[in-house]
Amino acid sequence: MRRTAIVTGVTGQDGSYLADLLLEKDYNVYGLKRRTSSNSLECAAHLASSIEIVEGDLADLPSLQRLCQLAKADEFYNMAAQSHVGTSFNQPVYTAQATALGVLNCLEAIRHSGLHTRFLQASTSELFGDGGTNRPAEGLSLENTPFYPRSPYGVAKLYGFWITKNYRESYKMFAANSVAFNHESPRRGPQFVTRKIAIAVGKIKRGEQDYLHLGNIDACRDWGHAADYVDGMWRMLQHGHPEDFVLATGETYSVKDFCFLAFQRAGLDYRQYVKIDPTLYRPAEIEYLRGDARRAHELLGWKPKIEFKDLVNEMVDAELNRK
Ligand code: NAP
Ligand code: GDD
Repeated sequence: MRRTAIVTGVTGQDGSYLADLLLEKDYNVYGLKRRTSSNSLECAAHLASSIEIVEGDLADLPSLQRLCQLAKADEFYNMAAQSHVGTSFNQPVYTAQATALGVLNCLEAIRHSGLHTRFLQASTSELFGDGGTNRPAEGLSLENTPFYPRSPYGVAKLYGFWITKNYRESYKMFAANSVAFNHESPRRGPQFVTRKIAIAVGKIKRGEQDYLHLGNIDACRDWGHAADYVDGMWRMLQHGHPEDFVLATGETYSVKDFCFLAFQRAGLDYRQYVKIDPTLYRPAEIEYLRGDARRAHELLGWKPKIEFKDLVNEMVDAELNRK
């Protein structure tokens, strides 16, 4: 029988890649979209005729209950959140409502639906934060790294992680956390550093922009491609039992490294264009992230396929080709 999935955050990067993957696998897909005055579908524009778009909000439990009753889904992927770390310092209360309590609303909607819907919470390497300061040689994992979030976003995600685990243990729900390290693509929001760099390279190359202003370019991240990561999330809900998994590439690069490759792709030297703007530094920063996804490899057969350099090239090429 055809399976049905709910994807919240379907207008975002991961939600849209996940919907693409589920359609390939012949699922019925219900995508949750919050009402906006512009009514833009953002990354989900190409999905409009192939999935059911339902209006609702993570902060509004009745809209999630209605969605669960309507879809009667086998799987529920919570990809929605106020997902920008920098923004969470300026909008901490809203971030907590959407990114922390929103998870509770999803779990409550499933619990009271009377259905056996499997739940995937899009958790994050931001949970580790400063807990990874001693940088274990094999990379950060749930087994070797304490949680120490460094932003209102990270703290909100920590609640989402634990409430998911708590509902799994309390109510025997199939509920799991994907603890994903950074993943990017040409669909990445323009506020995130990789897309900001790629957009700037395109504009500088076309003579539309002179400089790129960045904050901490020494920060290191474990960057993969979003298409690979949503495949890992899907595999987690096909697993025999609910478990939390780290998804990561195991490699780390600095923002400076990303700039070097991105500008090089366009035949430019980043040192001539990047200017440091101290106002773009965060009140608290995570300097270094590198994950250990061996458990996902061993138990789910998951391994990211797209290499860092290919990711940078894809993102820059998309901007160079933009009119
Ligand atoms: P994204 O592009 O920012 O997408 C977030 C989505 O959530 C958007 O569709 C957004 O809708 C929606 N949303 C925000 N607030 C909402 C609310 N109150 N009610 C309903 N929908 C709401 O994020 P992403 O990169 O795809 O990430 C997907 C998820 O994975 C997020 O939970 C993020 O925190 C988590 N995560 C991401 C990464 C990463 O590196 N990408 C790593 C670890 C974890 P609008 O279009 O209306 O804004
Ligand atoms: N956004 C941004 N803009 N970041 C900058 C800038 C800038 O101008 N200059 C330097 N950075 C640095 C940030 O300080 C951070 O250390 C790094 O670049 C990456 O920033 P983001 O791309 O905003 O991502 P993030 O690592 O903070 O958060 C992303 O990854 C998390 C997983 O680790 C988001 O996708 C989160 O939702 C996700 O949980």
